[in-house]
Amino acid sequence: MSDNKVQIFDTTLRDGEQVPGCKLNTEQKLVIAERLDNLGVDIIEAGFPVSSPGDFNSVTEITKIVKNATVCGLTRAVENDIKVAAEALKYAVKPRIHTGIGTSDSHIQHKFKSTREKIIERGVAAVKYAKSFVEDVEFYAEDAGRTENAYLAQVCEAMIKAGATVLNIPDTTGYCLPDEYGAKIKYLKENVKGIENVTLSCHCHNDLGLATANSIAGAINGARQIECTINGIGERAGNTSLEEVVMIMKQHPDLNLFTGIDTTLLYDTSRMVSESMGMMVQPNKAIVGSNAFAHSSGIHQDGVIKNRETYEIIDPAEVGVTESAIVLTARSGRAALAYRAKKVGYELTKLELDEVYKEFLNFADSKKEVVDEDIHEIMKVIA
Ligand code: KIV
Ligand code: ZN
Repeated sequence: MSDNKVQIFDTTLRDGEQVPGCKLNTEQKLVIAERLDNLGVDIIEAGFPVSSPGDFNSVTEITKIVKNATVCGLTRAVENDIKVAAEALKYAVKPRIHTGIGTSDSHIQHKFKSTREKIIERGVAAVKYAKSFVEDVEFYAEDAGRTENAYLAQVCEAMIKAGATVLNIPDTTGYCLPDEYGAKIKYLKENVKGIENVTLSCHCHNDLGLATANSIAGAINGARQIECTINGIGERAGNTSLEEVVMIMKQHPDLNLFTGIDTTLLYDTSRMVSESMGMMVQPNKAIVGSNAFAHSSGIHQDGVIKNRETYEIIDPAEVGVTESAIVLTARSGRAALAYRAKKVGYELTKLELDEVYKEFLNFADSKKEVVDEDIHEIMKVIA
């Protein structure tokens, strides 16, 4: 594998699906898993097998249809969780167990009423036990974002010795700033013995709207896996959005990072997940929102009609959107009106355009958006 390939670990079916209202049945999960596999994600986190018989069954069924991706099951650092996950993953061509424990002082004191030393012991035991079932074991240091770096380095070193292949550094509460999260990854790269033999993974939550920025900061500083979800769905304010991190790496070749994602499937995948979960995508969502390639102000429309790149950094076709939209509102100018009128069959002279434009503004002031039928109505002034 190239040193600069960033593995995409999709957790739509685990961290995404655990959100209230996003529950899917096995059939729906299978359709999404197949799509994620075609999209080119490297790892599909299919569920948390011990959590319910339904989740166990979904993970098993997913392992039977996925052709390329590694299929992963989540566990706590608890023997029975690990045993059940191994059982759920038994048909996977490439199985991975994702086990871990909270490492911040807040988790250690309040959640586990334990000590730093005992937490490392529990993590080591979990990794070793998982390793008795599968070769590929990922360890998560939950709340790593608020875990002191020196202690986190000790945790990582112990998990590498126990056999972990991937170390997940979650910013579980979405607390970190990008510089801070990037520095954490850099610190681990520089201070953990054996780190060169494992993959560091970013798993960022979006409580402060920084999940994407933090994941990219992590990759810039040496992480080579990003955990993310379609449309950024996930606990509370969500997880890192897959489409955002993938397109950032594609649009910035200067970063020298790449993924194996077929970006032309991003828009359709976003719609598919949104429809099956009943979770609407906000119109101004980057990359996949309905307004992501829509232009409504006169100045922008004039620019885009002359040359798309004046106001668009991504060719919509690259993410599977057919074309940029020129939306007619009271803020639109003559160029946009002429462009849309032409699309519905009216080639206007300059004089005609002046006349129709006055009528258009009166019309547009009374409506949110002027649609094709309205254009036919407006054209009656020059009939
Ligand atoms: O946010 C988190 O810490 C998690 C772990 C279970 C990986 O989702
Ligand atoms: Zn999470």
